[in-house]
Amino acid sequence: MRHLMSPLDFSVDELDKLLDLANDIEKNPAKYAHACEGKKLATCFYEPSTRTRLSFEAAMLNLGGSVLGFSSADSSSAAKGESVSDTIRIISCYADICAMRHPKEGAPLVASQKSLIPVINAGDGGHQHPTQTLTDLLTIRSLKGQLGNLTIGLCGDLKFGRTVHSLINALIRYPGIRFVLISPEELRIPSYIREEVLTANGIPFTEVERLEDAMPKLDILYMTRVQKERFFNEEDYVRLKNYYILTKSKMELAKKDMLVLHPLPRVNEISVEVDDDPRAAYFRQAQYGVYVRMALILTLLGIEVN
Ligand code: CP
Repeated sequence: MRHLMSPLDFSVDELDKLLDLANDIEKNPAKYAHACEGKKLATCFYEPSTRTRLSFEAAMLNLGGSVLGFSSADSSSAAKGESVSDTIRIISCYADICAMRHPKEGAPLVASQKSLIPVINAGDGGHQHPTQTLTDLLTIRSLKGQLGNLTIGLCGDLKFGRTVHSLINALIRYPGIRFVLISPEELRIPSYIREEVLTANGIPFTEVERLEDAMPKLDILYMTRVQKERFFNEEDYVRLKNYYILTKSKMELAKKDMLVLHPLPRVNEISVEVDDDPRAAYFRQAQYGVYVRMALILTLLGIEVN
């Protein structure tokens, strides 16, 4: 039995196969429409979500399976003090696979150690969001045709943004990746990623504060929201929340084929006027999230469709 806690749980070859499967699902949805008949996905979400929970549910329904679960800690027995270890033992009696989001770093890992079914980390605190990373990789590979030899700008809350942490870990395995880390001083990438992931692996990166300075060099601009829920005080959040706003005029500084990605939800960091720019790929990215989660469910359940 296999779980997914981090994008690094899959080798590069395994990831390639998973992304190939997702692309095949995109092209031939009918072929997969009954692949999970009789199977159940539990979505155990202790933190709010729109895309991750609903795209997991859509993925399982598209595969002919069923879904059950809860969408907040308050509506589960966590509110009465039940541990994730006990909850997953119970969910193992009801479902075949579980996607879990939790505000505490490591909670899905703890659950996986007691689980009788595959557990997928659907986001744990400020730590990792591996299925967002699979979504991002599928989007980049599908729209750019490659995952290597790219200059990637990561902009916004690089301190608390778990999607950024997972994406850096995944992308450094491809040749010719360079990062431009764009953030205010207070929201810089954590030092363990700068030193133990980037520097230790000899990955070229620069850190800048002005988005305008980075724009002309980028193949991908990955915008992120300032993570209000991880701030200790409201005053700091209010001061930093509008630090970056991507506008039409800033887009004029970018390459003609640069892609704008965002894990969403956005707050103010991308002006709605950018949505009509053909380089704005964030809504297509959300669609790729369904295909890649379908591929992941099939892979973890060991179901092959010929
Ligand atoms: N990208 C993402 O994780 O969105 P949700 O929080 O809506 O699931």
